[in-house]
Amino acid sequence: MALEAAFVSLGRQAEKLKDTTLRDLFAADPARFETFSVRCDDLLLDYSKSRIDAKAFELLIALARAADVEGRRAAMFAGEKINGTEKRAVLHTALRNRSGDPVLVDGEDVMPDVIAVLDAMADFSEAIRSGELTSSTGDAFTDVVNIGIGGSDLGPAMTTLALAPYHDGPELHYVSNVDGAHIADTLEKLDPATTLIIVASKTFTTIETMTNAQTARKWIAGALGEDAVGDHFAAVSTALDKVAAFGIDEARVFGFWDWVGGRYSVWSAIGLPLMIAVGPDAFDDFLEGAHALDTHFRQAPLEENLPVLMALIGIWNRDALGLSSRAILPYDQRLARLPAYLQQLDMESNGKRVKLDGSPVSQETGPLVWGEPGTNGQHAFYQLLHQGTTVIPCEFLVAANGHEDDLKHHHDLLVANCLAQSEALMLGRTLEEAKALLGASGMHDEDAERLAPHKVFPGNRPSITLVYDMLTPYALGRLVALYEHRVFVEGVIWEINSFDQWGVELGKELATALLPMVKGDVPADSKDSSTRGLLAALKS
Ligand code: F6P
Repeated sequence: MALEAAFVSLGRQAEKLKDTTLRDLFAADPARFETFSVRCDDLLLDYSKSRIDAKAFELLIALARAADVEGRRAAMFAGEKINGTEKRAVLHTALRNRSGDPVLVDGEDVMPDVIAVLDAMADFSEAIRSGELTSSTGDAFTDVVNIGIGGSDLGPAMTTLALAPYHDGPELHYVSNVDGAHIADTLEKLDPATTLIIVASKTFTTIETMTNAQTARKWIAGALGEDAVGDHFAAVSTALDKVAAFGIDEARVFGFWDWVGGRYSVWSAIGLPLMIAVGPDAFDDFLEGAHALDTHFRQAPLEENLPVLMALIGIWNRDALGLSSRAILPYDQRLARLPAYLQQLDMESNGKRVKLDGSPVSQETGPLVWGEPGTNGQHAFYQLLHQGTTVIPCEFLVAANGHEDDLKHHHDLLVANCLAQSEALMLGRTLEEAKALLGASGMHDEDAERLAPHKVFPGNRPSITLVYDMLTPYALGRLVALYEHRVFVEGVIWEINSFDQWGVELGKELATALLPMVKGDVPADSKDSSTRGLLAALKS
């Protein structure tokens, strides 16, 4: 079936289902959870609270087939240049390839280089962690500052927080924003004599990172002398010539390759700070988890394939139901940065308006991705999730077990809250139920009548839930790979290039042109009246 026709059928089915609620669907099928949930070992995806029926499921699978998800998946893993606008292969999966099989780019196996960099990272990390590699003053490093932005920050920052129970190395700090407040507040607490700076930038041209790196360099040189700089810096980049020009010793430079997208790079040397924090063995477990998910993605039939199913539910919500946002709600405090990480992964990948061939897309593409950990979000924006006029599909994540054995009652409360939220979103509360409850509480009829409409929850609000045993390095690797492949499958179905990011360029160009005007070196006459007015206000 052609893709366009598959979308039309999907739209028709959504129309047919428009008056069927989640309550109806659950009432009609007592085994709905069994039908619409799937596992990969201990990782469970429950998508039974999505507004689909068996026919919609069938049509979604047909849609994936019509888009040739299986063919595109094979092309990605085979190193074909599926990033057409940049003429690049997309092989972050090679970074965690544990199969022993070669991975070819332009006929050459990239695995020996991948393994060599991982080994060099492990040697460097161990030397820093053990204190064998010291600072210019002969002290062991107590703190590591990673300077990077976007994919050179969010991946290691998110995973470092997520794996806090596994930290046994120096303390990690992340500086990304060009706002001087970020680096100033970070360095203020640190001792230059025991601080290592990692400059992480795929291109080594990103203005925020280069500016922060120069400030850090001055901080080290100012405190310890120019000769100390070499001992306090390391770099991660694909642009080894530019790193050399910055003056970082070759032995402390960890490379990666143009077939690793920035937002897919946490598995590469960009993960060096994480490896320093948790050690090479735990980092290896993180890669193992991702590889396990890669294997599942490659081998599981579409009907039981977690990333494929998550993508199809995403497409259903976005295109068949017309819902434009997606909330990421981890009931796992250490996944506090996951929503921000997924914002880049998802929105920079699939926030596109033309197809691979440059023609306009036929469907709405990437949704707005946002979120906060539960239970905090419950006391902030969940009011809108439950009773607002906009329906927002929610994605809950929760572990069966926390790391805090002595705080099990906290975890029980966390789990109860997580399950309660998806149940409440699904069931809602009718006017009659609200009135009955108020009546049962002893309220006068008149007051109950007045208050009841405010206590109505429309329900029928879709969600999916991911459950895993515990947030270990392995489980985290699997989770991140799951979302990566989900984004990939959605991109395939929308026929877009999920691996370029031209949309970030215009702002960068204009900022470069504006800088001399902000400094007052060049008049702003060529600018529109708003930009001129704002500049004048800021300069006054
Ligand atoms: O925001 C655009 C972007 O290119 C991202 O894709 C990337 O992750 C980030 O900037 C940082 O780029 P670099 O690692 O080259 O400094």
